[in-house]
Parts: sequence; structure tokens; C-alpha cells
Amino acid sequence: MIESETLTVRGLRRADMAQARRLLDTSEYVHYRFSPDEMARLLELYPSVGAFSVAPGPLGRVLGGSLQAFLLVNEMAPPSAWIGGFGVITTQGRRYADYLRLLLPHLTRALRSRGVTGLYYSGADIDNDWMRAPLEASGFSLVSMLRAYDKTDFAVPTEGSRRIRVRPFRPADAEPLVELEKLCFDPPWRHDARAFIEASRLYPYFVVAEDDEGLAGYQFNVVDMKIGYLVRIATHPRVWGQGVGARLMAEAVHYFEREGAWKIVLNTEESNTRAHQLYEWFGFYLIRPRGFALGLDIPPPA
Ligand SMILES: CC(C)(COP(=O)(O)OP(=O)(O)OC[C@H]1O[C@@H](n2cnc3c(N)ncnc32)[C@H](O)[C@@H]1OP(=O)(O)O)[C@@H](O)C(=O)NCCC(=O)NCCS
Repeated sequence: MIESETLTVRGLRRADMAQARRLLDTSEYVHYRFSPDEMARLLELYPSVGAFSVAPGPLGRVLGGSLQAFLLVNEMAPPSAWIGGFGVITTQGRRYADYLRLLLPHLTRALRSRGVTGLYYSGADIDNDWMRAPLEASGFSLVSMLRAYDKTDFAVPTEGSRRIRVRPFRPADAEPLVELEKLCFDPPWRHDARAFIEASRLYPYFVVAEDDEGLAGYQFNVVDMKIGYLVRIATHPRVWGQGVGARLMAEAVHYFEREGAWKIVLNTEESNTRAHQLYEWFGFYLIRPRGFALGLDIPPPA
């Protein structure tokens, strides 16, 4: 048990960023799914908490304390939010489970006040994840097993439907995409309009497919260190099985080839057989380890 009376827990501020970045750079007890450059934006947009050790007396209050651990969110589309970062300084590292237990209720309280009723965490390896046990001990449970697929060539089995038009995302597409999202994904995985606008900022390739009835699908990607990340693909159920997904996949593969990626990677839920068929048809092969997602219900205020 850590002695919470020597610690102050509060929301992270911009002024805490230097300490948080130092922690990310120096500690082995870190999990984070954002680039350090993004931290300021995350702190501005979403709730975050830090545990600070504060020297007793007025001096401690003035100096603000030194950051021991933090917990933050990197995606939030009420009613869902995702843990995007957790870190503990090296000297406190072996007590990481205690810090997680200390910080979680503060974060969930802040999330609840923003309309979030489910907090999620995803890990890349179900058999080897240091955060899994403490999260489960704090009430998280398995919501989904995940699959990871790779592809190391740029062959496509088809160019897909030619009946649809594929064009770059525009901000006016965000609201209609939210409607499509409700038809395609369960709540934890849904984006809201703000998340789509964010995605258009973060992902250099973001296209929508449209036909005479309106939006028929979307797809976005990024290339980092020569690895192509096929981040997201969805098509409207009214066009399923008509080659729209294949068209978006083919265009994505061509994009990765143009950008000089040497492999393309993606993740999907274990239960999403429709997506598996499409990916395997396009030459993606399943890789280990098995990823997973945990979820925690945050009850609304009494
Ligand atoms: C997964 C998804 C994108 C597929 O989109 P789609 O528009 O239905 O895709 P397409 O019609 O181009 O291709 C899928 C078809 O390819 C077919 N296919 C697979 N292998 C094939 C092969 N060897 N030869 C011919 N067709 C093949 C699939 O079986 C399917 O056709 P069917 O339903 O008639 O059997 C869509 O179902 C979707 O948006 N789902 C919800 C969101 C989602 O799960 N996204 C992925 C998250 S990771």
C-alpha cells in the first residue's frame, strides 16, 4: 500500500508536462499509446490524473510536488473512453499496481462527469501484459479478444467496386460518419464527430466512399517508421458484399506502396469474421501474440 497522505492526486496541467515526458523517457514502468508530441493536446481534451509527492508545509504547496505516476485517456467518445497512458517513476516502479489502484477512481470520477460510462484498455499480448492483473483487480473484465494481421506485399486480389467514388474526408463528413458508426461498431469502438476531425488531423490518408445514396464507407491510415498502419475501415451495411470494402482495401494497399512502407499491419476483433475474410482475401496473415481489450463499467452518479 502506498501512503496516500504523502501524495496529492490531481488533474495534470500543462505545467506538469515536462515531468510527465521525463517519466516517459526514463522509466520502464510505462504504457502509452500516443506520441509524446501529442501530450499537450491530450491533457487539454481529456481527463488525466497524476500522483505527486508533496513536501509538507507551504513550500510543498508552492513547488507543486514531484510526479510519481500518471494515468491518462487518449480517446474519448462518450459513453466510452480508452486508457492511453500510465507511468510510474522508476524508483516507485515495483508499486505500479498500488499507483494504478490509487489513480483509477480519480480518473473514473472525472470521466463520469463528462458522460463516460465505460473505460477500456487494450493490450497487445493477453499472456504477457503487466497492466492486466491490476486492472482486473480493479474491476476490469475481458470485453474482446483481438487479432493482429500483417501483409508484406502490395498485391491486391481485386480493385473492388468501381460504382462508388472515393475522395478525401471533409469536416462536413464527420456527422454522417457518426451515423454510419452506430451501424458498424459496438459502443467502445465508436468514434464521435470530434474523433473523426481529430483523425483527419492525425492520419494523412483519410478517405470516404460515396454513391448516389450518400456515404458508403470510410478508411484511414498512417505510415510510421516505414510501417503502414491500416487504422480503420468500415462500410455501410446497405452495401455489404458489393465490393466497397475491397475497393477501400485496394486503395489503401496502393497508398502504402506509394509511401514506401515495407509492411502493413492492422488489428481487429476476434469475433469479426466478416473483416477477417476481407483481410485474408487481401493477403493479410494472422500473427501472434493475441491482443485483448478490457472494460470497466463506470456507474452514473447515484
Ligand atoms: C468488414 C467490412 C469493412 C467489409 O466490407 P464490405 O463492403 O462488405 O466488403 P466487400 O463486399 O468489398 O468484401 C467483402 C466480401 O469479400 C468476400 N470475399 C472474401 N474472400 C473472397 C474471395 N476469395 N473471393 C471473392 N470474395 C471474397 C467476402 O466474403 C465478402 O463478400 P460476401 O459477404 O458476399 O461473402 C464491413 O463488413 C464493415 O464495415 N463491417 C463493420 C465495421 C468493421 O467491422 N470494420 C472492420 C473493423 S477492424
